[in-house]
Amino acid sequence: MPTPKLKAIIRRIDDLPTLPRTVFRISEMINNPRSSARDLAQVITDDQVLTARLLRLVNSSFYGFPQRITTVTAAIVLLGFESIRNLLLTTSVFDVFAGRRHDRQKARENLWDHSLGCAVAARVIGKHIRHEKTEELFVCALLHDIGKIVAMVYAPEDYDRATRKAEQENMLLRDAEADLLEYTHTETGRMLAERWNLPAMVADVIYYHHTPEQAGAFAKEAAIVHLADIFCRALQLGSGGDNRIPSLNSAAWDRIAIRKADIATIMTEIESAYSDISTFTDAATAAPSV
Ligand SMILES: [Fe+2]
Ligand SMILES: [Fe+2]
Repeated sequence: MPTPKLKAIIRRIDDLPTLPRTVFRISEMINNPRSSARDLAQVITDDQVLTARLLRLVNSSFYGFPQRITTVTAAIVLLGFESIRNLLLTTSVFDVFAGRRHDRQKARENLWDHSLGCAVAARVIGKHIRHEKTEELFVCALLHDIGKIVAMVYAPEDYDRATRKAEQENMLLRDAEADLLEYTHTETGRMLAERWNLPAMVADVIYYHHTPEQAGAFAKEAAIVHLADIFCRALQLGSGGDNRIPSLNSAAWDRIAIRKADIATIMTEIESAYSDISTFTDAATAAPSV
């Protein structure tokens, strides 16, 4: 049951940023087995900003294709529908983080870096254990802390109190939220995912990333994002609003079953994938309206 405080945020959340209509249309098309690459290309090319960003990203070193890709159809054929959706969602969510106001800009940027780091880490871990849905893992991890953005924008006094307490007492932001407020970023994050009509996996992983053993059907995915959160903090990619690394949930660790000997390789892969993709998003900040 939502607490009165959470209910108050839900009431104010009505003007929360929405994902662009194009991303919704694209998600629908991808779920429809009869859509073709050509249909999808048509929808994307109607949006010039998305088209420019998509082509910039597919030509970045993150994907490392040897030849230059100049058309949206070629990008779809090479990357596949799921990757394209992931990529468009990434660029759209970036806008939500970028915001328009200057206050807390640094905190937002740090949180974006943390989210992107976690997304990259979840994808690397997913590939390593041969998870079937690495693209979805990327999206779940990209959005895992989106509830912190909700608080920053709609309950800034709460966010400031919680981050201050986390810093002063060297605790996780989530524990400070639980002590001071009547809600945590996992609840507001899930609310936003539901509002954006994102898949149940995304909403559940957001909700359970600090308690992955409770995640039911998506316990494995929650465990991967939980571990990705820890890895990207250990690598100091951005900041989640506190300086603590969450303690490793042993049930989650057992479920993923990574060999200790592989951790160093995984960390190196995360670092290199992160530096490839963050070059792209830096460019998106520099030229948002191509
Ligand atoms: Fe979190
Ligand atoms: Fe996090």
